[in-house]
Amino acid sequence: LRSAGVAGAAAAVGVGVERVASDSSSASGDSVRAAQARVPFFGVHQAGIATPSQGHVQFAAFDLSSGRLSDLRALLVAWSGAAARLTAGLPVGALESGEEPPGDTGESVGLGPARLTVTFGIGLSVFERREFGLVARRPAPLVALPAFAGEALDRGICGGDLGVQVCADDPQVAFHAIHNLIRIASPTAVPRWLLAGSGRTGNSSGEATPRNLMGFKDGTANIVAEDEEALARFVWANVPESPAWMRGGSYLVVRRIAMQLGAWDATSYVDQEQTFGRQKVSGAPLGGAREHDPLDLTAKANGVAVIPEDAHVRLASPSYNGGERLLRRGYSYFDGVEAGSPAGGLLFLCYQRDPRAQFIAIQHRLAASDALSRHVLHVGSAVFACPPGAAQGGFVGQGLFD
Ligand code: HEM
Repeated sequence: LRSAGVAGAAAAVGVGVERVASDSSSASGDSVRAAQARVPFFGVHQAGIATPSQGHVQFAAFDLSSGRLSDLRALLVAWSGAAARLTAGLPVGALESGEEPPGDTGESVGLGPARLTVTFGIGLSVFERREFGLVARRPAPLVALPAFAGEALDRGICGGDLGVQVCADDPQVAFHAIHNLIRIASPTAVPRWLLAGSGRTGNSSGEATPRNLMGFKDGTANIVAEDEEALARFVWANVPESPAWMRGGSYLVVRRIAMQLGAWDATSYVDQEQTFGRQKVSGAPLGGAREHDPLDLTAKANGVAVIPEDAHVRLASPSYNGGERLLRRGYSYFDGVEAGSPAGGLLFLCYQRDPRAQFIAIQHRLAASDALSRHVLHVGSAVFACPPGAAQGGFVGQGLFD
């Protein structure tokens, strides 16, 4: 408890991140600083969206077992209070509780906040279930996703009344947070599906772009956390298409995308690069020299497009999608063995101002002709309205109850 209190007293520096002064008595000051780095829970926007992505994710979708609006409100109050403590490195309840079960499960004691963020989302079903009385409050951009060509959705890992994205630089800090949020939610809400991941899509200008499980740099042309203009235009919900209570929030589309790694590993290097339209090692666009060179979609060699007509980056690029972009914040996941190869994929998480104009439009194009579709399979899907951040002492989703 004492060490957690240190994090709570941290001073603000950098891009919305607070760090405690380094502990000079520690053998490795850097790792202590990294463990103690914290991202404030309260603010205009929820943390975990335009936050430079942390190393690990735990994503859980919940079903509400209660149909009472007051229970939903009480859950959001309790979750926000818990998230404020967790992100400050504090336990959510008594660790040493005598004859009672502990009020905090304890596995993060001594680990620090590790830039923990907790981001809450509300699913379409909450607005559609009449007993909550929220039918008229549904934000117009929160729609059911249409069926996409080639997907093979498993209903057990789709949807959810509520979604919680927990990210941290320490996997056990992330697990501890989701573990306790699940415990606190009972019996009002029960987890429907849960997925852990690590290895992320880059979303910050201040870092080397990380790689996905197919070996390619992922996040090169992403919206970065530092680009306020792009965030305002493409990520933060706003009027008129969203109601005022969603202003400063965002819409999250989740897709669990399995990669067929055995077949990919047997694909030639040239074909791998043609699939994405980028060089594998450098990340530069085909025909370019450096990672951040612009895509030249008109370049031809011997009459053939240098970036193939069905390359992933061509079809996903703003030029093919009416100028639209997404903030991608996905994570790799690992899932045992399939046909003699490691099974895994991408927990694709993307934030946007309006999924109708962004994810849905782009995914229709990708599903129809993306070369990458031959190597991946969409198996899970969900959409959530993530309200704006809570003011100090308030709770996420408060505007929905005004
Ligand atoms: C397993 C599935 C996927 C993998 C492995 C993957 C991988 C990549 C890679 C390596 C890049 C190039 C580097 C970069 O700019 O980040 C990229 C770009 C991009 N991807 Fe994906 N992606 C996947 C699915 C999707 C989906 C489902 C969407 C949206 C519907 C999407 C949207 C984009 C966009 C918008 C870009 C940037 C294009 C540009 O402006 O250059 N990706 N992806």
